Amino acid sequence: MNSEPQLHQVDVLVIGAGAAGLTAALSVPEHLSVAILTKDPSGGSTRWAQGGVAAVIDDEDSVESHVQDTLIVGAGLCHRDIVEHVVSNARGAIDWLIKKGVTFTKSDESFHLTREGGHSYRRILHAADATGWAIQHALDRQAISASNISFYHNFIAVDLCYNRGLDPKTQRVSGCYVLNNQTGEVDTFLAHAVILATGGASKVYKYTSNPDGASGDGIAMAWRAGCRVANLEFNQFHPTCLFHPDAKSFLISEAVRGEGGILRLPDGTRFMPRFDSRAELAPRDIVARAIDHEIKRIGADHVFLDITHRDAQFIKDHFPTIYQRLIELDIDMTTDWIPVIPAAHYTCGGVLVDSHGETDLPGLYAIGEVSSTGLHGANRMASNSLLECIVYGRATAEHISQTSQTGLEHTTFIPWDASQVVNSDEDVVIAQNWAEIRRFMWNYVGIVRTDKRLQRALNRSQLLAREIQDFYANYRVTTHLIELRNLVVVAELIIRCALKRKESRGLHFTLDHSDLSTDPKDTILMPNRDL
Ligand code: FAD
Ligand code: SIN
Repeated sequence: MNSEPQLHQVDVLVIGAGAAGLTAALSVPEHLSVAILTKDPSGGSTRWAQGGVAAVIDDEDSVESHVQDTLIVGAGLCHRDIVEHVVSNARGAIDWLIKKGVTFTKSDESFHLTREGGHSYRRILHAADATGWAIQHALDRQAISASNISFYHNFIAVDLCYNRGLDPKTQRVSGCYVLNNQTGEVDTFLAHAVILATGGASKVYKYTSNPDGASGDGIAMAWRAGCRVANLEFNQFHPTCLFHPDAKSFLISEAVRGEGGILRLPDGTRFMPRFDSRAELAPRDIVARAIDHEIKRIGADHVFLDITHRDAQFIKDHFPTIYQRLIELDIDMTTDWIPVIPAAHYTCGGVLVDSHGETDLPGLYAIGEVSSTGLHGANRMASNSLLECIVYGRATAEHISQTSQTGLEHTTFIPWDASQVVNSDEDVVIAQNWAEIRRFMWNYVGIVRTDKRLQRALNRSQLLAREIQDFYANYRVTTHLIELRNLVVVAELIIRCALKRKESRGLHFTLDHSDLSTDPKDTILMPNRDL
């Protein structure tokens, strides 16, 4: 292809168009120009979200109860002030979504509220079982018609441009190098504010509920730009992903358990009451560990989820997407048990940010699943994630609107240099390393850990990191190479966080340190000190 790298200048650059990125883009004042980058138009995790958005709606429910439930599930590591901030803004977030065109399911005149693990009340607003799609669709429509917002699909952020001079006054993000997949060139986007809204990193595990793009790009980019990351040992495993050879990454919503679904062994025995008095509605870490334990104990490769005791029409009305997908696979959930296993689902840690989403690098924000705000602690409560995306998307936009200028003189930048690289002639290295990382992360850094397994994983990730860096230095970047380079960074960050935590808390469970520390602390990694 014969083309030149392009220079683009905007006021605000948003990397990612899920719930977080779109909320921020739609909330900055219209006089600021906004560019939104996406890896591909099919999107990140948002559009796959099933269960819903947690908010206090019922008169019997209260903000304090939602706060308490979040703190309990977060196992002592949530930041109470942040939990209170997010939960008390939930009603406003729902009103904003409705104003933007999201239709939540109603029963008579009021919202139908469902229940999920850890919640003491029915407080999950949903659009049947396709809440994420409803949100993505409504926000996409609004953003496409906004005159100040431009979309750049198939533009993959590679690394941030920034100035980290000795004088703190000049330290600031200035933009991003971006692979333009239409031309194959690396373009430069300059912006006064850059928002990382790139989603999570669950693709680092062999089995995941996430779409392919969840390779932790934002976490790796922020880390390379000198930002701290926190609590990455807490990767959440969703207890019930569909177990089927023809179904990649299909989730069976926790709302199925919320509406009475029972977990059974292949012989029909119900097992959750043996593990927790909340049974199927215990927090996810407990349910996932119980399934993992039972699978290993009896030598099975999955367990079953049974909701056949509920009325068939109720099931079809409440779970139309799940029902339809299962029918395609010859499973009728109104009469058949659903085969399920746990899979990596949500990255609770991420780039450390303050209460309006700003990272350690001035002008650089991180919102949504890429961030570590203090809301989730050692385990995220179901349906608190989309809520966090909306609350932080709006807070970040508000902060930018107070601090940003338009038409500013951008600082000088160093153009991307592709003069020393050639097209790769051995892409097999990428596929091989990608599979290797995901396999050792699943086996050694999964639901149950030990120091020895973590050390083995660290040795392997360091070896692969060197090999991948060598490849990156010699060949032209492609989407897969960019993702692999990020995946190996995030793998090492997860392992290092896990090695630092000498206790079992929330999602981090290790056979070598089964006790809880009496003085719980966040795990914070700092570039140049911890890697
Ligand atoms: P995402 O929606 O993941 O979007 C990431 C965006 O970043 C995408 O547009 C992607 O293209 C872009 N991107 C990534 N890297 C780059 C790059 N290098 N360059 C350019 N663009 C890039 N949470 C709930 O609260 N309730 C639920 O019911 C729920 N159900 C879920 C069901 C499933 C199957 C899954 C996978 C998750 C679910 N979650 C749920 C979690 C929730 O959906 C996610 O945490 C949330 O949607 C993340 O939104 P986000 O905006 O941070 O990122
Ligand atoms: C689900 O529907 O089970 C997913 C909910 C969530 O991840 O918050």
